[in-house]
Amino acid sequence: MNLLAARRMAVAKLDAAGVPDARLDAVILLAHALGTTRAALALTPSQTELAPDQLRGLEQALNARAARQPISQILGARLFWGREFAVTSDVLDPRPETEILVAAALHHPFASVLDLGTGSGCILLTLLAERPEARGVGVDLSRAALLVAQRNCERLGLTERAGFVQGSWFDPVPGRFDLIISNPPYIAECEMARLSPEVRSWEPRLALTPGGDGLAAYRAICAGATAHLSPGGWLMVEIGPRQGRDVAGLFQAAGLAAIAVLPDMDGRNRVVAGRYLPETA
Ligand SMILES: C[S@@+](CC[C@H](N)C(=O)[O-])C[C@H]1O[C@@H](n2cnc3c(N)ncnc32)[C@H](O)[C@@H]1O
Repeated sequence: MNLLAARRMAVAKLDAAGVPDARLDAVILLAHALGTTRAALALTPSQTELAPDQLRGLEQALNARAARQPISQILGARLFWGREFAVTSDVLDPRPETEILVAAALHHPFASVLDLGTGSGCILLTLLAERPEARGVGVDLSRAALLVAQRNCERLGLTERAGFVQGSWFDPVPGRFDLIISNPPYIAECEMARLSPEVRSWEPRLALTPGGDGLAAYRAICAGATAHLSPGGWLMVEIGPRQGRDVAGLFQAAGLAAIAVLPDMDGRNRVVAGRYLPETA
């Protein structure tokens, strides 16, 4: 089969499976199967024949995508803040909106950072890569997720400054940190059925929802914040667009100051930040 025919076949298969953006995904998976980039693929003559192993690889990838497996899991990687992170079905696929949380954190100085619910490690490892003098710890309840985070840490050459521990929120971490950051599970139980098949069927439930009203993780994190923040330190969390008021209220009840709700590029509330100033707490 030549490139042109393979491309048509791929688009038809993904379209039939109801995959959104079938054309784009077909090209991404074709480039992946050929071991090339989309840009190079565009310059490849359309009469080029696919080798048998390339065709097999393409068919496998198309079957996975038709079953609505996310592209990042099929490729095994996702770009986040310009760096490549390994992604498996054991971790949340790093989202572009989480870069808003990272950007907010980088507005402040910090030498120590605690990332609660680290998943792939994308937040902690990005912050440490951007701040060569800082050290940090990533916590996750999922041992499988921590193995992915550790792999990413090694790939980025950050093992001397990053550590990972298994446990629930603050349970496994002693000490205080200049920055506590988290993108916790925040989808309310009643919203789970509305998620796309890519998310609902392929990403870990533990990464998506704490059940109930979606606020349980924020309650736990806020309850432990002032005992684990250095004086002057910041707590920053990602939120769902309709959770700003509730989460800011939890920050206030926890005794944090300078509380701000920050929007993402679409103007939707995305981050809540608050500072531990013991004299005002
Ligand atoms: C929304 S994902 C975020 C992953 C990653 N930080 C990111 O932004 O892509 C939430 C993470 O919290 C972890 N998690 C859920 N409950 C937890 C708990 N009680 N203690 C620690 N981690 C937890 C999940 O395993 C998951 O990796």
